[in-house]
Amino acid sequence: MPENIIIDTDPGQDDAVAILLALASPGDINVLGIVAVAGNVSLGQNAKNALKVVELSGRTDIPVFAGCARPLRRPLVTAEHVHGQTGLDGPDLPEPQKRIEDGHGVDFIVDTLRREPEGSVSLCALGPLTNIAMALIKAPEIAKKIKQIVLMGGAYFEVGNITPTAEFNIYVDPEAADVVFSSGVPIIMMPLDVTHQMLSTHKRIEAFEALGNRTGAAVAAMLGFSERFDLEKYGWNGAPLHDPCVTAYLIAPEIFEGRQCNVTIETASELTRGMSVTDYWHVTDRPKNTFFVRSGDSDAFYALLTERLARLP
Ligand code: RIB
Ligand code: CA
Repeated sequence: MPENIIIDTDPGQDDAVAILLALASPGDINVLGIVAVAGNVSLGQNAKNALKVVELSGRTDIPVFAGCARPLRRPLVTAEHVHGQTGLDGPDLPEPQKRIEDGHGVDFIVDTLRREPEGSVSLCALGPLTNIAMALIKAPEIAKKIKQIVLMGGAYFEVGNITPTAEFNIYVDPEAADVVFSSGVPIIMMPLDVTHQMLSTHKRIEAFEALGNRTGAAVAAMLGFSERFDLEKYGWNGAPLHDPCVTAYLIAPEIFEGRQCNVTIETASELTRGMSVTDYWHVTDRPKNTFFVRSGDSDAFYALLTERLARLP
């Protein structure tokens, strides 16, 4: 039975690959809708990028909504330095014909969860958690209806990427992350600890290009653009591929390893704002609210990605 999911996203090249993996896998994942959030670039640009990715996949049946345009409390921090001015630099994708749905993305999340049977819908969060926090604040009763939240965000042993202690998605809206991690909803967390093991080497990017379809060519161009910043920063033989860990987990959880532990978000300190404080060794009695994924099989991850992206146009 395919997993019913809503994808909350700030595309971003890595978000795009995560979305394409989901849309290429209808036997495993049923995408009920995609909701854009402000993050990598502005809300409007992220929403437009989501439309482009849906059209690239050929799955124009999937509704795309616009969610929140800024974090709950903080000014928006964006990442054009990584993703380019459009947020999806690299491929030359056509202007979308598909339109953004009427209505707010947060209302789509709330209405869908109210309508669907309890425990039948998972939320996949690929950007700042603003929309999901707003949905939980607007309709607290939906918390018990969400099957799980699978999110890319946070870091612990691998430390931060936007500051020495914080990962970008959590840093942008730490108050929203605190609402989500305090909600009691089961959380599967894909932190930098695992995503930094998923490196898009040139051999792996060439395998996408060699698929011979438009999706493979676009993905190769996306990653060929977004790798620049990380290769310069880290000096590794490939840039980390973050967001597809979320949708890959839903298809092949055996690729990943982790443990249940407490994760609490720092919201008061300016020095460590957005740090995902992880009680990995259970030294406190804080509730074990999160399945913290610490490692994964990168060869299996890229083999899955390549095999699934081959199924798209
Ligand atoms: O820190 C990595 C995360 O920030 C990814 O989701 C990437 O798309 C950016 O949003
Ligand atoms: Ca993202």
